[in-house]
Amino acid sequence: MIGIFDSGTGGMSVYREIRKVLPREKYVYFSDNAHCPYGDKSAEYVRDRGRFITRFLLDKGADVIVIACNTATAAAVSALRAEFPDTPFIGMEPAVKPAALGTRSGVIGVLATAGTLKGSKYLTTKGKFEDNVRIVEAVGRGFVELVEDGRLDGPETEKVVERSLRPLLDAGADTVVLGCTHYPFLKDVISRIAGEDVRVIDPAPSVARHLVDVMEERKLIRGDAAGEQDIELVSSGDPAPLERIFRMINTERV
Ligand code: DGL
Repeated sequence: MIGIFDSGTGGMSVYREIRKVLPREKYVYFSDNAHCPYGDKSAEYVRDRGRFITRFLLDKGADVIVIACNTATAAAVSALRAEFPDTPFIGMEPAVKPAALGTRSGVIGVLATAGTLKGSKYLTTKGKFEDNVRIVEAVGRGFVELVEDGRLDGPETEKVVERSLRPLLDAGADTVVLGCTHYPFLKDVISRIAGEDVRVIDPAPSVARHLVDVMEERKLIRGDAAGEQDIELVSSGDPAPLERIFRMINTERV
């Protein structure tokens, strides 16, 4: 069974890709929306949540855990790997490398939470590419709340998105990295504001491929799902946002 967690519904943008490559697996998804957003919380707080949720997912029978949250990965993945050595953890990291390799303008924009942008892994990756490309960053202020509330489009959403995105575009970014798993649900709005010449990168497909590699290597692919979409949805707060996003990603498929 594959355990997935996020501070809220954002990790569903990762599940959406994972189920394409692992359609016959069982899933349990934990939305920690009673504690959302993680982005402005201390690393220690997010780590504690990560520990609690990991125990919960292991009790449910998870044999691999996807931290479908950049902020939680930055704060907790090393501690969780040390504390739960028998469990493989798959984390998220802003896709700076493909952006740096593909940019024509030499400027890439990274949209993420404050917690992710402060994380040591991100800072190390950024350091590797900074000699060759200019990396400009912005926190997507209010983006997580928009997604949790299901306000994925409309004039108000455009206004909120434009406020954080504009500085990146003004700096000349021709590539925008979505460094928070909530943000792909705003991709249509982001692309509309950025224009068709700007490439918007969602790392979820490559994370899904990496998960397959890890599960193959450890012989964890079971193919024991009871029919299509064997997933248990769990929320620490109101269950409605997760159910809404789940319905939405299922409608997208048809
Ligand atoms: N979806 C999350 C991430 O990838 C967390 C957003 C938040 O709770 O602030 O960073």
